[in-house]
Parts: sequence; structure tokens; C-alpha cells
Amino acid sequence: MMRLKLRNNRHHRDNDRGNRTHTMAIDNAGAKYPGPFREEPESLFERCSWFYAFCREHLFHDHTATISHALWPGARPGPDTHLLEIACGPGFYACSLAQRYPDIQITGVDLSDRLLSRAKDRADIRRLKNCHFIKANVLALTQSLDPVDAIIASRFLMVVEDRPQALHEIFSALRPGGRCFIAEPTSALRAALPLSCMWFFARLMGDWTTRFHEPGRAAVMNQHEFQSLIASQPWSTVSLWQDHWYQYAVCDRSC
Ligand SMILES: C[S@@+](CC[C@H](N)C(=O)[O-])C[C@H]1O[C@@H](n2cnc3c(N)ncnc32)[C@H](O)[C@@H]1O
Repeated sequence: MMRLKLRNNRHHRDNDRGNRTHTMAIDNAGAKYPGPFREEPESLFERCSWFYAFCREHLFHDHTATISHALWPGARPGPDTHLLEIACGPGFYACSLAQRYPDIQITGVDLSDRLLSRAKDRADIRRLKNCHFIKANVLALTQSLDPVDAIIASRFLMVVEDRPQALHEIFSALRPGGRCFIAEPTSALRAALPLSCMWFFARLMGDWTTRFHEPGRAAVMNQHEFQSLIASQPWSTVSLWQDHWYQYAVCDRSC
């Protein structure tokens, strides 16, 4: 069972909707991320959640089949499998895998209330009972979660402020014998487009003074940087490859 330190999340609309999928916040959620104060940087993903959700749905590659094959090659996951999608955004993979494998439990974590709300709506529309979303900071994930069997991290390392810490958290959040799938864009130009548009929309909506966490350009890693980052954790096996759009890592933790 997953251990969560839960608190009520006042920003969500859960209370007015009886049978919605649970969205919860865990204690680490405030760490190193947007606060309510004017001088603190905010998140572009929160401010322009609608635009990111549109891009995720209609413009970005769907790696669901690749993820399934990478995490559970030639087999279905066991019924007690617990899969974590970190920085899940609008919950695209959490929901598609929950639909594909109704026996497993999936948790999506993110810091954006609005994206989490979209993820929850997505799960509700599909009537998914095995898919839950919580607000949590991936940079302090293991303070609040018991180890899981598998982790997905898609398009996350290019935006997170402390990549080595993020990777350490991914490693630590996996149980021994667990496996993670990581996908990162390879083109700085293509990855920069959604971010630039979000900056543009934020300014267009009159947001001239707000400081945002996210960089103007996505911090896309080259092949060497990606390899070095992956190698920073004591994985038992690592498989790395790339195609025209993304670089991938599938890593196993043995101890
Ligand atoms: C580029 S989006 C990726 C979303 C999704 N994984 C996908 O494939 O489309 C990055 C996501 O990371 C989230 N994020 C950034 N820093 C985070 C952190 N420290 N903890 C949790 N989520 C974070 C943002 O809110 C955003 O939803």
C-alpha cells in the first residue's frame, strides 16, 4: 500500500462533485514551487494549463505503447502493480495506461492544481477507478510516498530546476526490482515552442509583472548530458536510445 501524508486541498473542486476521482495533496507540495505571494515566481503550466493540455492531446507524441513495452515487455503487469507518473500534467499517460490495465493502480503527481484538475476530469470521463492524482513536489517525493513498482517521467527533466535531485527521487521512489521509463525531447527548438507560446499567452492576458519558474527556452539535454544524468544513480541495468524526436531511458533498480 502506498503511504501518503494527506491534507485537504482547498484549491480543488472535489467537494462539490460526489463521485469524482480523488485528488489529494501531500505534505511536500509547497516545497520550492509557486506560492500565493506576489514576489514568488509562479508556474506557467498552472497559468496556461489549457494550452499545455491542448498541446499534450493534439501535438505531442503518444508513447503509451512504447511505455507498456518498456515497462512490461511481452507481458501484462501483475494485478498489484503500482505505477507512478511523475509531473503528470493533464494525466495523459496515467489515464491511457489505467484504461489499458484496469487491474493496476496508477498515481499521477504534479504541482499544478489546474493540470491536476484536468487529469482528474479525464479519469472521471473515462470512469477510471484505478487512477488517482495528488499534488506533490517531485523534488521531495520520497518524503511522502512508499516505493512503487514503476515510474514514468515524460518531458519533465527539461523543466525541473534540479535535475540530479529529480533523478535521485525517481531512483529512491522505486522499490528494489522496480523500473522507470524516461522520455525527453531532443530538439530545443521544438520543445521551446509550447513554452514560448505559454509565455506569450501569459503576457497577452495582462501578466506583465509576474515572474514564472519556467525558463524562456526549454533546457533540452544533449545525448551526453542525458547519459551522464541517468548514470548519476546506481541502476542495475540501463537501456538508452533515441529517435528523431525524443531520447529515452529505461532503468532498473535492483537494490
Ligand atoms: C512539460 S510538462 C510534462 C507533463 C507530462 N508529463 C507530459 O508528458 O506532457 C511538465 C510538468 O511538470 C510539472 N512540474 C514541474 N516541476 C515539478 C515539480 N517539482 N514537482 C511536480 N511537478 C512538477 C509541471 O506542473 C508540468 O505539469
